[in-house]
Amino acid sequence: MACPSCGGDVEPVAGGLECVACRSRYADDGVLRFVNREAYAESFGLQWKTFSRVQLDSGRLADSERRFRAETALQPNDVRGNVVLEAGCGMGRFLDIVSRDGAALAVGVDLSSAVDAAAENLGRRDNVLIVQGDIFKLPFKPGAFDVVYSIGVLHHTPSCERAFKALVPLVASGGTIAISVYAATVKPGVPWALNMFRRRAWRVVTRRLPRRVVMWWSKYAVPVFWAIDKIPVVRYVRYLFPVLIYKDYPLEWSVLDTFDTYATELESRHRPKEVFRWFREMGLTDIDLLDSDDGWVSVRGRVPTRHA
Ligand SMILES: C[S@@+](CC[C@H](N)C(=O)[O-])C[C@H]1O[C@@H](n2cnc3c(N)ncnc32)[C@H](O)[C@@H]1O
Ligand SMILES: [Zn+2]
Repeated sequence: MACPSCGGDVEPVAGGLECVACRSRYADDGVLRFVNREAYAESFGLQWKTFSRVQLDSGRLADSERRFRAETALQPNDVRGNVVLEAGCGMGRFLDIVSRDGAALAVGVDLSSAVDAAAENLGRRDNVLIVQGDIFKLPFKPGAFDVVYSIGVLHHTPSCERAFKALVPLVASGGTIAISVYAATVKPGVPWALNMFRRRAWRVVTRRLPRRVVMWWSKYAVPVFWAIDKIPVVRYVRYLFPVLIYKDYPLEWSVLDTFDTYATELESRHRPKEVFRWFREMGLTDIDLLDSDDGWVSVRGRVPTRHA
């Protein structure tokens, strides 16, 4: 680890870490804390503490593992014995997979108080470390990780491109980086375009509303539209309102994602060729566009091996 303020070495002291150079102190209360403001990520703190276990894989549903594999192409072999970083870990649903895949160390970093939920879910595991920190100012030395990945995070920062470029130096020579961000275009066709327009238009209003109002709406309106969705023809009325309904998942997933979509302060969307360019500009090789779900641009690449 390194001091996020000056890059100096940090050493353990009572209750946390201290930088040997600038003497900044960082608390450790089960989470190593390098920031004390959630900034634009505040809605995520509330989101992941309210729905702290909904998307954790269970015997019944392993959708987080399905998404993790599809959006990073990381298999257990790529993870086992390696030091892995998840940038923007939320409550830890993907870090759970990495930890179970046998990572030597699975580090989850998040800007928001979602880290409290991640620590509650995974903090007791020997190979997991939860850090509250900012992707733009991370407390790690260059080349500290064999694998870095980020799913559904970078497009919620002030600059998706800068956030990605801040992560690349953390990957060791020969290591892998994989990111998955919102796609600018979902599918060709009028229904998708209308759906995107509806979402954008509503977000102009909803992202400015008090979070508890959006939480209230998500908890109480989604079950109503969930029921309406079962009535032929009438079901289309839901497309006029800011709700997401996933009929093949438990109801809580729709509640969670309605809040996620409409409360989030920042959101940007990206084209595959744009993300490819970022990878090329950072000198990455073996760049691959993955076959993930519609709505996502998932790209991975490798840091070339440096010869001594
Ligand atoms: C939609 S959530 C995704 C969380 C997790 N990857 C998942 O899919 O379950 C986005 C997360 O990114 C975090 N985030 C946003 N900006 C960040 C930053 N600059 N540094 C670290 N985390 C950030 C938010 O706090 C939030 O928990
Ligand atoms: Zn320092």
